[in-house]
Amino acid sequence: MHPRSPCALLLLLLLLVAGPAQLSAQLSAQNCVSRQQVLAATRQLQQLLKAQETRFAEGLRDLRGRLAALQSSASRVGPDAPPDISECSSQPCQNGGTCVEGVNQYKCVCPPGRTGSRCQHHAQTGAPERVAGDPAFSRAPRCAQVERTRQCSCEAGFQLSSTAGDSICQDVNECELYGQEGRPRLCMHACVNTPGSYRCTCPSGYRTLPDGKSCEDVDECVSPQHLCPRGTLCVNTGGSFQCVSPECPKGSGNVSYVKTSPFQCERSPCPMDSGPCRHLPKTISFHFLSLPSNLTTPITLFRMATASAPGRPGPNSLRFGIVGGNSRGHFVMQRADRQTGELILVQTLEGPQTLEVDVDMSEYLDRSFQANHVSQVTIFVSPYDF
Ligand SMILES: *[C@@H]1O[C@H](CO)[C@@H](O)[C@H](O)[C@H]1NC(C)=O
Ligand SMILES: *[C@@H]1O[C@H](CO)[C@@H](O)[C@H](O)[C@H]1NC(C)=O
Repeated sequence: MHPRSPCALLLLLLLLVAGPAQLSAQLSAQNCVSRQQVLAATRQLQQLLKAQETRFAEGLRDLRGRLAALQSSASRVGPDAPPDISECSSQPCQNGGTCVEGVNQYKCVCPPGRTGSRCQHHAQTGAPERVAGDPAFSRAPRCAQVERTRQCSCEAGFQLSSTAGDSICQDVNECELYGQEGRPRLCMHACVNTPGSYRCTCPSGYRTLPDGKSCEDVDECVSPQHLCPRGTLCVNTGGSFQCVSPECPKGSGNVSYVKTSPFQCERSPCPMDSGPCRHLPKTISFHFLSLPSNLTTPITLFRMATASAPGRPGPNSLRFGIVGGNSRGHFVMQRADRQTGELILVQTLEGPQTLEVDVDMSEYLDRSFQANHVSQVTIFVSPYDF
């Protein structure tokens, strides 16, 4: 409908909210409406009502026609079918369902709020059945009679299951609601739906932070009980720990290695003019890193630098490279500045997995090779992205 004047629209609004009795009184207060305009608007509304009436009557006629067609097709059964046995005669539809005859079968058309082949079930709206079946996840609503309507409400964390008279308060599944794509994450790890609320849980080896949502790794290695056997070292990892025992390579001939710290080995001095000895790593160090899954790459994991002994001329150039390990393709080793090289992770890692990469730093003095140092880097990737 397109009321031709703003006053017709006003009239329509007043008619809807106030009813015709109050209309004339309110109209006199509105200076914008002249008697003629009111009359014009009333005529418009009458036309509108007429049009609605016609459409409604047409709809009813159409429905009657379809019902008749259904009836005649149901009675026109094939020659083999037993004649005149009414499937509906046993009144199979319950709870006010309407029985519709078919060929050797019937169909129940259920009233609102009922489902099932015989309308035997209450229709469940919204809440999933698992929750609907558990009495802990539903509550009786608080209802009050406001004028002529019954108004019901639920306590926080619950919602009315339907607008029908027999509705109950169903728990809102916050975990499902916020678990959808594009919604903010309720919990860092897992969400557990509880009646009226939810709570977050963390995997074992993590503790829940006071915010109730975040998980923090527990450092098992600081625990007073010694978790690792004697002679091994404890390395904390995401959600767990590892016991490691770095070993120096066995020497051969005149070459041998000694432990200078729990995480470092040093080669014994080479005899004069022993070329093969000089090309074995002068130092070997061991590094253990713990990373979460799915780190954004590229990211620098490790730096390696030279430190020349005081009073002695240091190398004047360095070369860096990857010399071993089980996953070289994930990394790049490059010079960061004159004294430093860095190991860069270039491929995303998903845990749980353990990677090893061996990086080398070679020292040169006036282009002549002096010594090289190897760092063996072991990376424990946690199964979680935290
Ligand atoms: C060990 O060093 C001695 C000299 O100090 C040399 O004669 C000998 O060949 C070396 N052995 C090996 C296996 O390098
Ligand atoms: C890592 O990312 C992949 C792809 O986006 C995803 O399928 C996987 O669940 C993520 N893993 C973790 C532990 O977050």
